[in-house]
Amino acid sequence: MTAKLISGIEIAKEIREELTVEVTELREKHNIVPGLVTILVGADPASQSYVAAKNKTAKALGINSEQMTLDVDTTEEDLLKLVEKCNADPAVNGILVQLPLPKHINEANVLIAIDPAKDVDGFHPINVGKMVLGEQCFLPCTPHGILEMLTRSGVETSGAEVVVIGRSNIVGKPIANLMLQKRDGGNATITLCHTRTKDMAAHCRRADIIIAAVGVPKMVTADMVKPGAAIIDVGVNRIGQASNGKAILAGDVDFDAVKEVASCITPVPGGVGPMTITMLMKNTVQAAKMAANLI
Ligand code: GUN
Repeated sequence: MTAKLISGIEIAKEIREELTVEVTELREKHNIVPGLVTILVGADPASQSYVAAKNKTAKALGINSEQMTLDVDTTEEDLLKLVEKCNADPAVNGILVQLPLPKHINEANVLIAIDPAKDVDGFHPINVGKMVLGEQCFLPCTPHGILEMLTRSGVETSGAEVVVIGRSNIVGKPIANLMLQKRDGGNATITLCHTRTKDMAAHCRRADIIIAAVGVPKMVTADMVKPGAAIIDVGVNRIGQASNGKAILAGDVDFDAVKEVASCITPVPGGVGPMTITMLMKNTVQAAKMAANLI
């Protein structure tokens, strides 16, 4: 079997087309232009490229997007002051502080300082709590993107055995929570595997859907996959450099071998990555509508 490709590029494009209609309507009917601020501390190359992509996508959609780049030595106090300034600015609907932050800055202190109504990453404890309770909130972008990929590709999640590999706050924990809820893209039976899991392969072999978010290149091999399973690969691992200087990327899944066993699979690059950025845009438009009492 050769698996069907779940293209994040195509699904993200479809969602951006829907968002373009919403942004145009906001501008023409309500004179509102959604505003996003992205804050990058330091010069980590991967973070630089993610933040640049977020700004480029926002601008292409007609969202007012401003990137603030701070020196790697910026103090926590100065970063908190900038967050406060953005909280108070009515032209800013969404604030994103790119993670990871330099070691001397306490990430939790920064995330809790962002106004929950502008927390388009969905990382503020209030939004995390609401998400777990199934209440209306900003959903974190990568898990939200995964749900969209599964539902728009017609993958049945209700009653499905889902194995999530990785227990990060950004992907593993929220996607496990969302997929067990009574909602579209939910109603699944979840197993959350991590570094202390005994016999990861045995768990994976039972799975109808595997979501790999572990950061280990090609960790999920073909012998770990049940024939016909759906595979979502969240990993973006730099495994080398091409002669043109571009990074060579590999996911957490051994794509070439697993595609012969699975029914559908996301590629790396071109899978979950474009979805994450697009869901950030969706949250920013949602934030602008909420600020104007339109939803
Ligand atoms: N670093 C890796 N993924 C993310 C994300 O979704 N949001 C932020 N702010 N930082 C990240």
